[in-house]
Amino acid sequence: MLQTRLSDPDRQVVETAYARWAPVYDKLCGPIFEPGRRSATGAAMRIGGRILEVGVGTGLSFGDYDASTEVVGIDFSEPMVAKARRRMASGLYPHVKDVMVMDAHELAFEDASFDCVVAQFVITLVADPERVLSECARVLRPGGEIILVNHLYSERGFAAAVERMLAQKARALGLRPEFPFQRLAAWAESHGGAELIERRKVNAFYTLVRFRRAMRESAAA
Ligand SMILES: C[S@@+](CC[C@H](N)C(=O)[O-])C[C@H]1O[C@@H](n2cnc3c(N)ncnc32)[C@H](O)[C@@H]1O
Repeated sequence: MLQTRLSDPDRQVVETAYARWAPVYDKLCGPIFEPGRRSATGAAMRIGGRILEVGVGTGLSFGDYDASTEVVGIDFSEPMVAKARRRMASGLYPHVKDVMVMDAHELAFEDASFDCVVAQFVITLVADPERVLSECARVLRPGGEIILVNHLYSERGFAAAVERMLAQKARALGLRPEFPFQRLAAWAESHGGAELIERRKVNAFYTLVRFRRAMRESAAA
């Protein structure tokens, strides 16, 4: 357990951070996040169909999908979305159908309108992770998957101590090193309409987590 639990990130702080990151994001963060991003898009490609990318950023993942998919991206950062739109307008990614400015806490999509929802390096940054996960589940068809990739809290040892130490300062940069896996598992248990189906280390830093939307809601949903 975390010794000193910080509150979830403040929307304004994260928005400001990504307005600053936007001009340099592809060069600085792109290569660092690539193994995680690729693991998530690979898992999403196995589902295929209509894919929603939540927190799509500058659209670095567009090239990971192919013409068998229809991709829609949302992100609340206008500068990040502007870059994703320019990427989409290049004509290289006809499978990317739309990129919109939208808050993940209130997805403006119909229930059950996607086969898969992907969120790479996002769930740890939102103000209310459980609400965002429930929104992702709502827009998924029964049997569809939520695919997350993140750096998750190491829980113990030296790495955990460093993550706790960096937690406060990381907020201003739009990063969060101390988000525990247990919170994701607890959401699935309490939601009742989503099952945790995979938790896998991608490398020393990133963890892939998959949930499947239940075919039928249980009483807890
Ligand atoms: C670390 S970046 C990841 C971007 C992209 N997924 C990638 O892998 O390159 C986090 C992104 O999440 C977005 N974000 C954070 N909170 C959000 C929210 N509540 N709604 C929508 N997007 C959000 C940020 O604007 C930023 O673009």
